Amino acid sequence: MSDHAALVDLIKSRAGPEPVALGLILGSGLGHLADAVDGVAIDYADLPGFPHAGVSGHNPKLVIGQLEGTRVAVFGGRAHYYESGRGDAMRLPLEVLKALGGEALIATNAAGSMCADIQPGDLMLLNDHINFSGLNPLIGEPSDARFVPMKDAYDPAMRAALLDAARAEGLALAQGVYAWYSGPSFETPAEIRAIRMLGADAVGMSTVPEVILARFLGLKAAAISTVTNMAAGLSDEAISHEHTKAMAPLGAAKLEKILRRYLREL
Ligand code: HPA
Repeated sequence: MSDHAALVDLIKSRAGPEPVALGLILGSGLGHLADAVDGVAIDYADLPGFPHAGVSGHNPKLVIGQLEGTRVAVFGGRAHYYESGRGDAMRLPLEVLKALGGEALIATNAAGSMCADIQPGDLMLLNDHINFSGLNPLIGEPSDARFVPMKDAYDPAMRAALLDAARAEGLALAQGVYAWYSGPSFETPAEIRAIRMLGADAVGMSTVPEVILARFLGLKAAAISTVTNMAAGLSDEAISHEHTKAMAPLGAAKLEKILRRYLREL
């Protein structure tokens, strides 16, 4: 891992030296979940190397503090491959999470559904992924650690605990396979038919590179999609980023309840 001592010192000087247990990456339209944390917010602009421009609907702040008794680091915005052409766009924030003591990551995203029984407003827990982009955030990584095993990349114990948390809250949490499509253009209906046939249940433009990086860094990983639309060609509704941002809050309230319960039961 590269040395980010100055960055980590800067964060600890603002947020305190106690280790964080878990990192949470917030997806499109979910940025306000950062406000649930009782802690210190640091703008990405104050953190050299953190993603700057970002995507509208994200909240480019790192918030460190307590959420339901657990010290968490919430990444209010993420960098995507499509912004820079760099598959490892989130490597620095994840290395910082690891250096702050993080042991696990929960990534969230907005996604399109390819399953009739997973509708806009629903949540889907990722149980696996298909890297349909052909890219990998570890290309160029020289160490043998780059050969990361990806079986059970979505940690079975974390998944079971998240399902328990959803059940305890009386909320439905579907499970399925997420396909990473690079974006930023949305998929064509033919592409959606293709990845559906290959076994994907939902599609989005993020998360997969972060989970690969998390496993590379030895962080346990889990991820939840808020479904904002049926994928291209599966409904008459027009797909747009505005639509994604407008629909994500439907799932966000449920997501917050599940995450709170999960942390409380840790
Ligand atoms: N495709 C890709 N990314 C998305 C979608 C989609 O349909 N919806 C929200 N993010």
